Amino acid sequence: MKIYLETERIFLREFTSEDIKFIDDLDSSPAVMKYLSDGVPSSKDQVLNTINSFLKCPDREGGSYGYWLAQTKDSKEFVGWFQLRPLKEDINNYKVLEIGYRLKEKFWGQGITTEVSEALINKAFNELDAKEVWAITMRSNIASQKVMEKCGLEFQREDVFLDYPGKDKRCVWYRLKDSDFRKHKLNSLVYRKSALSDALAAAKLHSVGDPEAYDSLVPVFQNEFKMCDEMPDIRSYYLAFDKSCLIAFAGARYYDQENDESMYGTKNLLPSGWYLRGIRVHKKWQRLGIARELTKLRLEWLKEKSSEIFVFLSDENKETLPMYKDLGFLEQSKGWTYSSPKISRKGILLKGYFNLELENRRSL
Ligand SMILES: CC(C)(COP(=O)(O)OP(=O)(O)OC[C@H]1O[C@@H](n2cnc3c(N)ncnc32)[C@H](O)[C@@H]1OP(=O)(O)O)[C@@H](O)C(=O)NCCC(=O)NCCS
Repeated sequence: MKIYLETERIFLREFTSEDIKFIDDLDSSPAVMKYLSDGVPSSKDQVLNTINSFLKCPDREGGSYGYWLAQTKDSKEFVGWFQLRPLKEDINNYKVLEIGYRLKEKFWGQGITTEVSEALINKAFNELDAKEVWAITMRSNIASQKVMEKCGLEFQREDVFLDYPGKDKRCVWYRLKDSDFRKHKLNSLVYRKSALSDALAAAKLHSVGDPEAYDSLVPVFQNEFKMCDEMPDIRSYYLAFDKSCLIAFAGARYYDQENDESMYGTKNLLPSGWYLRGIRVHKKWQRLGIARELTKLRLEWLKEKSSEIFVFLSDENKETLPMYKDLGFLEQSKGWTYSSPKISRKGILLKGYFNLELENRRSL
């Protein structure tokens, strides 16, 4: 059976028609149905309709959107279900998704809904390219709103759900936007030095936009990270992760014009010295301060080693050039021709002095 998603404690898998017994059992609980039907258990027909709609939904768009049965990983017990699909109000818009959940009472209060919803939201933004994730619940369903808030969704508006049979028909709409999702996650990103085993992920990140480059980049990063391991005093790479997913990296090294092979194909013209180099942030994570964070780590590492630091980059580099200038790096010389890796570009050499500008601006 196809597994859709896996968290620490839970598997989400596709529904089959035999799962009707689980839906019947779940919807027979007045506590579960309290904010869905004012506590009235679903009829046999309603249960049949529910399972039929679940079975139909994931067929669309290659099975990425729909409803999934949740079971515990250890004992394979039925926990409930989760959904990730376009909003019913805009059913063909795959950029605007809605999450939802219904769990057996036995599993409430253990953080399971938050755990799985966070994973669904991650999937929505990182794999499915969603722009917004919404969730809707009755105003009186505090538990559900707590889950939404814990997952970073924010209250948008109150509305009336006319089909709700109970007296209080007010419902609430919550939303998380892609940009806010990433801001929300900034504090939980993990920064660390590279290991040899990171080479494949680094090659993948570097080849975004040019997948053909991947094969040639793997040995480059393997070599680079191996050298960082072997010569930690003169080379280092810092990486940023969202959970286990590599989202950015940046290097620093000592370059010796006499003894090193040429750097950037500049035929040994670059001056010997300490360089910040090789920075890349995944497109979706740009403009959130990650490059600065990685640079802070690199400068920290370099602080004891030299009072002057070089950066060599393309003079068309609109992303990082302003950042380095803002950090106090000054233009040293420009007009260098170098190869990167296929095309020839014009490079610019920047220099920063630790004790002067860099030191003053290291608050970053
Ligand atoms: C809503 C529901 C999915 C919550 O599931 P859950 O697994 O208990 O949620 P979590 O354990 O992840 O809890 C998230 C937060 O909500 C809080 N919470 C849970 N139940 C609560 C309640 N009855 N009142 C107030 N807060 C509650 C938890 O304490 C937790 O916050 P905390 O970590 O700050 O303590 C579950 O109650 C349920 O299935 N209800 C029936 C179906 C339903 O109403 N679905 C939602 C329709 S929109």
